[in-house]
Amino acid sequence: MKKDFLSISDISEYELESIVADAVRLKRLKYAGTAHEYLRGKSLAMIFEKASTRTRVSFEVGMSDLGGHALFLNPQDMQLGRGEEVRDTARVLARYVDAVMIRAYRHDAVEEFARYSTVPVINGLSDRLHPCQVLADIMTLSERFGDLRDLKLAWIGDGNNVCNSWLLSSALTGMEITVASPPPYQPKDAIVTRAREAGGRVRITTDPAEAVRDADILYTDIWVSMGDEQQRTERLRALKGYTIDEHLLARAPPDALVMHCLPAHRGEEITDEVIEGPQSIVWDQAENRLHAQKALLVRLIGADIPAE
Ligand code: CP
Ligand code: NVA
Repeated sequence: MKKDFLSISDISEYELESIVADAVRLKRLKYAGTAHEYLRGKSLAMIFEKASTRTRVSFEVGMSDLGGHALFLNPQDMQLGRGEEVRDTARVLARYVDAVMIRAYRHDAVEEFARYSTVPVINGLSDRLHPCQVLADIMTLSERFGDLRDLKLAWIGDGNNVCNSWLLSSALTGMEITVASPPPYQPKDAIVTRAREAGGRVRITTDPAEAVRDADILYTDIWVSMGDEQQRTERLRALKGYTIDEHLLARAPPDALVMHCLPAHRGEEITDEVIEGPQSIVWDQAENRLHAQKALLVRLIGADIPAE
C-alpha cells in the first residue's frame, strides 16, 4: 500500500477488495456493539478548507470508534491562514499525529502536503478528486451486487471531482462508466485518458437518455461544487435537462439504483421524488463513508484486523 490515499488509483485492485472486505467486517462489529479499537493511541489531524458534514463527522466518529482521536483544524485558525507554508505545516503536523486528512481547494496543495508529510495523507476532497466518496460507494455497491465487474454506471450532470474519481476507479472494479454532460462540464481529457490508459472502460456523451438506457446505477452530484459558486447562473443554465427525474429514471432499466454523494439540491440535479423514491440508496452511501474510512485508516496506520 502506498503511504498516501490521494486518489482511488493510489490503491491496487487487490487493496481495494481487501479494504472493502475490512469495511464490511468493521460495520458488522459496530452493529454488534463489539469493541474494535484497532487505532488506540493514534491521532488523525483533519484540515478543512471547505465545509463538510459527512466527511468531518465520519472521520471523527471513525477515529473514536477505533479508540483513537481526531482533531478538527480550520486553516483560518491555524498559522496556515496567516501565510505559513503548506510544506512547513505538513512537516510539523507529522511530528504530532499519525495521519492527516485534508480537504482543500487545490489538488496541488494536497499533493504538496503529502510530499512533505512523513505520515499518511488522505484526500478528503479536492477540486479534482474525491476518493473517499468513491471508496464508500464501491463498498455500497459491493454489498448490493457482490461482484462489480461489468456493472454499468451512468454519471449524469457535472463532470466534477466525484465523477473523476469514478472514472479512475473503472480500471480497478471493471465497471463501465458513462458520463452524460454538456460539453463545457464534461470531465477533462487528461482524466479520461488516464482512466482509459489504466484499463478503465469510460464513455462520454451529451445524451442522458442514452447513458441511462442500460445502466445499473444512475449517479449525480450537485451542479455547483464548492469553489464554483461564481458560475452558478451559467451552470444551472447549461445543466438544465440533466436532472435525474422520474422521466429519466423511466428510461433506465426498472431495477436501476440511484446514487448521490450528497449534499443534494432537490429540483436541480435530482428531484425530491427520485431521491426519496425506492430506487435511491443515498443514505446507505452516506453511512458507508464511516465504515469504509475506518477500514482505510486501519490499513494506513494500524495493524491487520484479526480474522473473526
Ligand atoms: N459527500 C461528502 O463528502 O459530503 P460532505 O461535503 O458533507 O463531507
Ligand atoms: N462535488 C461536490 C461534492 C461535495 C461532497 C463539491 O466539490 O462541492
